[in-house]
Amino acid sequence: MKIENSLSAPQHPDAPSQAGLQFTVATEEDFDEIMAMSQHIYGGLDYLPTRYTAWMQETNRTVVLARKQGKVIALESVCVIDDGETMLVEGLRVAPQERGKGVAGELLRFCSQLTKAKYPEVKVTRLTRDDQLGPKDFQKYRLVTKQGILLVRFRAEDLKLRLAQLGPDGNELSPTTTTTTSPPPPPAPPVHLDSAAIHRLYLTTELLWEVLPNVTIVQDWQPFKLLPSNMDILLKKDIDWVVDNVDAPTVASLCTFPFRVPIGEDWYYLNIDMFGKDLPLVRQQYLGHLRRHTATLKGHVMCQMFLDPPLWKPMVEFCRQVLQVELVKEYTEQCVVEADVV
Ligand SMILES: CC(C)(COP(=O)(O)OP(=O)(O)OC[C@H]1O[C@@H](n2cnc3c(N)ncnc32)[C@H](O)[C@@H]1OP(=O)(O)O)[C@@H](O)C(=O)NCCC(=O)NCCS
Repeated sequence: MKIENSLSAPQHPDAPSQAGLQFTVATEEDFDEIMAMSQHIYGGLDYLPTRYTAWMQETNRTVVLARKQGKVIALESVCVIDDGETMLVEGLRVAPQERGKGVAGELLRFCSQLTKAKYPEVKVTRLTRDDQLGPKDFQKYRLVTKQGILLVRFRAEDLKLRLAQLGPDGNELSPTTTTTTSPPPPPAPPVHLDSAAIHRLYLTTELLWEVLPNVTIVQDWQPFKLLPSNMDILLKKDIDWVVDNVDAPTVASLCTFPFRVPIGEDWYYLNIDMFGKDLPLVRQQYLGHLRRHTATLKGHVMCQMFLDPPLWKPMVEFCRQVLQVELVKEYTEQCVVEADVV
């Protein structure tokens, strides 16, 4: 079988791959084969089916496939960001029957060499992981930042009804819950940012430096430094940008628009990146994003919020007791790690 877009390692063009792998650049036509290899990945919550076509259009991205006897057995995507200094590794996966044989390691090393040859100014490789990192990983990687992952599940129609019973700060609106003392005034409503306000807050002032984890925007698993070139990438995406106060923000959030996942016909993923440590403000922005999207969604929603780790527990209580949604998994972490490209 002749393989189009065949690639060789730049430093060792003739060196045979240890595991007899061939590397090719992925194209639109590879979609079905990649999906076949990716079945059941992330428990049916794979984002790649909805992102693949867009990935093919991105000029700063290369999707590399590893093949064995012509058959796709692994994939990795590399996206160059941070003014060309960072290669962001995403989408890594190896076909189930090929795992544990060093394929991922070989593909990672190949992509690193390939990217270094194409973009000599690349200095570091970054990736975001949610598996348990051990001492061996930390010999290879430095931790850039981490967020807790709160994953809940609900039917959009049910949560919409529940939200109608709650005020903007999550208190019951029911007239039967009368109190003798007047409740504290609700915080001012969150502000949706337009692109001019996003530029001002994120690029031309230092107002968010203390709010963002390690001064990094982690949007739907992708870590970005505060640079105009990254903002150009982010502003092309469907995201709601919210802060509590444009002059002195304490909590900022990015809600990526819901997208379908392969687990079932009417299943969606809704990802909210939450930055800041103030629990009432976090709750308020979370509710705002949920209201906006449950207004139009129909079906099952897996909602993932990435947040400051100490807020995970109180937010779980809020989700269970007030929102009455189901917690899908116990505490896990989203870790952004990096290593120098040598
Ligand atoms: C994780 C997965 C890609 C590992 O594939 P594998 O071929 O069995 O892994 P290997 O045998 O090459 O051994 C692990 C190597 O990959 C690296 N690795 C393992 N998990 C990794 C991850 N999530 N991200 C980056 N590197 C990872 C290890 O550090 C090791 O590198 P080394 O060769 O430099 O020591 C594979 O199990 C898989 O496809 N899992 C399902 C999808 C998934 O969880 N992807 C991770 C997305 S963050």
